[in-house]
Amino acid sequence: MSTVNIIDFVYLISAVLFMLGIKNLSSPATAKLGNKLSMSGMAVAIIATLASPDMNGYIMIILAIGIGAGVGGYAAKKVEMTSMPEMVALFNGCGGAASALVAMAEFSGHTGAFANFTLITLLLSIIIGGLTFTGSIIAYTKLQGIISTRPITYPFQQVVNGGIVLLTLLLAWVVFNDPSSTFSFFLIIILSLALGVLAVIPIGGADMPVIVSLLNSYSGLAVSMTGFALNNNALIIVGSLVGASGLFLTMIMCNAMNRSLANVLFGAFGAIDESAQDAGEGPTGSMKGFEVEDVAIALENAESLIIVPGYGMAAAQAQHVTRELGDYLTEEGVDVRYAIHSVAGRMPGHMNVLLAEADVSYDQLYAMEDINDDFATTDVVLVIGANDVVNPAANTNPSSPIYGMPILEVDKAKTVVVLKRSMNVGFAGIENELFFRDNTMMLFGDAKASIQSLLSAIKK
Ligand code: TAP
Repeated sequence: MSTVNIIDFVYLISAVLFMLGIKNLSSPATAKLGNKLSMSGMAVAIIATLASPDMNGYIMIILAIGIGAGVGGYAAKKVEMTSMPEMVALFNGCGGAASALVAMAEFSGHTGAFANFTLITLLLSIIIGGLTFTGSIIAYTKLQGIISTRPITYPFQQVVNGGIVLLTLLLAWVVFNDPSSTFSFFLIIILSLALGVLAVIPIGGADMPVIVSLLNSYSGLAVSMTGFALNNNALIIVGSLVGASGLFLTMIMCNAMNRSLANVLFGAFGAIDESAQDAGEGPTGSMKGFEVEDVAIALENAESLIIVPGYGMAAAQAQHVTRELGDYLTEEGVDVRYAIHSVAGRMPGHMNVLLAEADVSYDQLYAMEDINDDFATTDVVLVIGANDVVNPAANTNPSSPIYGMPILEVDKAKTVVVLKRSMNVGFAGIENELFFRDNTMMLFGDAKASIQSLLSAIKK
């Protein structure tokens, strides 16, 4: 067996490790193992690449690996769970930039004539990698609140974006026919970078996690293209895996919000609807704030309780006290369950991860479709920092931006207790009529502090 064959075989092993890793990441119970398998896959692929016969410049490579591993390791350790989408956005951007830069280096350092396929994949890698880089930076700045999370729109926006795509493809055709046309090559780079910015700014902050996932898929595609250009099987396989899994995740999130990808990309979700505001649309009824003691009585008298966590539970880091409250009430004979909406929080599986971290038993966790019918027969629902995912407007108000999104139908329960700090809106930026319903008790305060007080009051 030649060295090249051995290296390809090792790449195959690393690909299998990546696939097993992704498979195990699909459940909180096996997610840690999934991470370890994927890490081993990456280590194996790096070692195989370093052992390639045509490899040189080891000092630079080791320096780059050291810097990358240092920055990545520090970021992964320091980042708060709630800021994970921002970190993923930045890492996607790095992936896109790396692919584009490798493709540019390959393009400019190439000697002799290009094979058609190599040239096409190099150009695609530069275009997709470039727009992934700037698109991810914009997604990051929106998620961080550095720029407005509202969709930034202007007349003929999509026409302009469509025009830039066509112009970029036209220039790619020029370079394909004449690789020495440096001016066109540089224009392609600039237009790709501009496209990333212009394609993401019209998308609202609420849709950023979907966009981050889509950009993740793009970064995989760019890596794959670079792999074809360099004839590197590991890059082709890993890029395809990232591309496909990112796309699946994007579709899962779109389905959970009952929206098409086209609506997410071009619908300017979250833009201020002046007409709806002028028409005076909004919740009717009156909001009722309660004290801890009132809520404690409601919980003590309940036979069944469903806990609905949302972003506020993550922000307050209230998962551990939530589990304590749930366990205490279970011991007192209350039937306690947890209802998970797939887009609650700020990243896929956010609530599952937090509740698993707090040791909530998996058999107490219910997905929306498995528990929605049970709310009507439930005594108390405790909504902990969730807002959009329990907003009845999704079912009742056709003019609401979230109309049609499947929600946890908590409003059907006998009593709904909502823990949040104020009447502020959630991520989608819209009012929630649930807070004004007759069967809703509002308990204001930081979720962790409120649950601690509730627990003390119940234990008394
Ligand atoms: P949100 O609608 O964002 O509402 C969270 C609520 O938590 C806020 O209204 C906030 O109210 C409250 N809160 C914040 N900090 C708190 C604290 N320390 N203590 C108590 N309450 C606190 O959350 P959600 O219901 O989980 O919905 C998620 C949103 O993200 C949806 O719009 C969803 O479409 C979007 N999204 C998520 C994903 C993924 S993958 N998860 C993907 C795409 C979109 P106060 O400020 O008044 O406290």
